[in-house]
Amino acid sequence: MPRIPIEDNFNDVINKTQRGLKISDEDLAGRAEVSAADLAAVKGGEVIPAVIRRVARHLRLSPNALEALAHKAWYPEQPVFPRGFAMFNTPFEDMTVNSYLIWDVRSRQAAVFDTGADCQAMLDTIHAEGLDLRYIFITHTHDDHIADLAKLAAAHPKAEIWASEREPVDFAGAKTFKENAHFHLDGLAIKTLYTWGHSPGQTTFFVTGLSWPLAIVGDSVFSCSMGGSPTNFEDQYRNNKEKLLPLPNDTVFACGHGPLSTLAQEKEHNPFFAR
Ligand SMILES: [Fe+2]
Repeated sequence: MPRIPIEDNFNDVINKTQRGLKISDEDLAGRAEVSAADLAAVKGGEVIPAVIRRVARHLRLSPNALEALAHKAWYPEQPVFPRGFAMFNTPFEDMTVNSYLIWDVRSRQAAVFDTGADCQAMLDTIHAEGLDLRYIFITHTHDDHIADLAKLAAAHPKAEIWASEREPVDFAGAKTFKENAHFHLDGLAIKTLYTWGHSPGQTTFFVTGLSWPLAIVGDSVFSCSMGGSPTNFEDQYRNNKEKLLPLPNDTVFACGHGPLSTLAQEKEHNPFFAR
């Protein structure tokens, strides 16, 4: 798979945090003691380290992590699953979106998480590996994540479609789960965590039984950023802290956009979580 760019630039992180915390430019410039012109330049993408660091402190972001992101100084080491895991990255409008497939290597029982813009590569892998697709899980129902649901469901009519009871789902036959619901694929266990904010029922699926603990987080977290929401930014931030940070450090984060990462790496490099 080609190297997937980190989803958000440093100024995207600043802009989404400022919007989420509902702090005006004037207020932020005043608190951070930077000029309006410097703030505007940084928000437009100009790398002025001293200004970035001051602004970070007043947005509860890690100055070191935000400055490193601005310099494009780091890219997450990509965790490797020898078996039982596949990632798909498909173009949607001007960006790309990720979807995932996991399976139990002995029984071949499988589940997918979202469809991406185009599920053909996913269908091909299911076929090539001889998998028995049991579940279609939905992290959240934003268009880019479920764009090819009709085709996937038609190709695997026996697979159950599941989403959070709090997420608006407009698909015939879809079932809904509560938080802390458990699913199994023979040797694999899947538990639902409500990491909402970006959408009302956005869910993280925590999977154990593969080579690494795996959190399929949707748009809860991106490497070096997190999902935005003008209305529920604080909820997203709190849910990430309460439900994702306590997971084992070697948990792989499989994000809705951008590269894979791990909790340990994000604790050090994500401006929202690093110190
Ligand atoms: Fe998304």
